[in-house]
Amino acid sequence: MTTINKDDENTQMMFRIGNVRIEDRSVLAPMAGITNRAFRKVVKMHGAGLVYSEMVSAAGLCHEDKKSFEYIKIDDEEHPISVQIFGSNVDEMSRAAQIVEKAGCDIIDINLGCAISKVMRTGAGAVLLKKPELVEKIVHGVVSKVRIPVTVKMRAGFDAAHRNFLEIAKIVEDAGADAIAIHPRLASQRFTGKADWSIIKQVKEHVSIPVIGNGDVKSIYDASRMIEETKCDAVMVGRGVLGRPWMLEHISKHFSGKKVEEPSFDRKIEIARMHAGILSEMFGEKSAMLQMRKHLRWYAKGMPYSAEICSTLFRIENMKDFEDCISRLKLFNEKRKFRSL
Ligand SMILES: Cc1cc2nc3c(=O)[nH]c(=O)nc-3n(C[C@H](O)[C@H](O)[C@H](O)COP(=O)(O)O)c2cc1C
Repeated sequence: MTTINKDDENTQMMFRIGNVRIEDRSVLAPMAGITNRAFRKVVKMHGAGLVYSEMVSAAGLCHEDKKSFEYIKIDDEEHPISVQIFGSNVDEMSRAAQIVEKAGCDIIDINLGCAISKVMRTGAGAVLLKKPELVEKIVHGVVSKVRIPVTVKMRAGFDAAHRNFLEIAKIVEDAGADAIAIHPRLASQRFTGKADWSIIKQVKEHVSIPVIGNGDVKSIYDASRMIEETKCDAVMVGRGVLGRPWMLEHISKHFSGKKVEEPSFDRKIEIARMHAGILSEMFGEKSAMLQMRKHLRWYAKGMPYSAEICSTLFRIENMKDFEDCISRLKLFNEKRKFRSL
């Protein structure tokens, strides 16, 4: 009979990117406009193996743009953290990587997956998948300028004519990258269709660096199915974490065979309130409340609420409006509970 001792168990839960040990195989995806310091803090309070920043412009960092520097602020409790940079100029990407390394991140990620036209028009993001030689130069350039691990987050290709994920994965590995995260959709698909997890499996079999699988993980069961089907080293979740910052902790617990329970209505409200507080502290009340409009809608998903509450949700301007909206949600929920008795 084989017995699993604690060390083996821990080994199964962890993975490494270069010399960075990551304790859990659950990863927060980079999401522009979402995964700022406040959101990452709320996710980390619950638990996650690794968190990614929003994408940051390499040109912005090189030109000392204030907003870009705001994106690379890192708090102590966030480690290990990967900061993602985007750009298409080898020199700028290398210099930006040095700036980001100096800011204290643990891993640098290169964006080869952004399908937004504003980014692709500059030659950055997923459009780079059409230029394997440039990808090689960028990855090599960045790797040669920093001491911390460098990773790449890519899509399956640019379009049906450029479905070159295996070629790109190999180029990236040979250029010195320490891991690959793959969202297996073409850039031309954006978010339509289904993420083709067989692509994750093929990439995993094709390279020897760690592969992080991504795409359409909405539950703890999806996460374990992705690991089983693709043998990827870790699971990255984006949209599945919106309004559910506890999701990655649940995935890690599920991987280690522990039971998880959906937080109660009151606990969800408590987490949303904490999120609003952290946002206010970091960005000021006005910006926090604008951001909270979308987050509160995600937190409220699945809760009973009326069209009237929904419309107040979109008009939150200050903490008082926020609390008012929360009270309405609570009242509506109480009434529902009472009616169903
Ligand atoms: C609002 C939003 C913003 C995103 N921003 C980024 C980004 O900055 N960099 C990146 O590589 N991917 C970005 N993505 C893609 C996600 O990281 C992820 O690959 C994609 O959402 C698929 O994973 P999911 O099905 O778990 O959401 C973004 C996705 C969303 C929904």
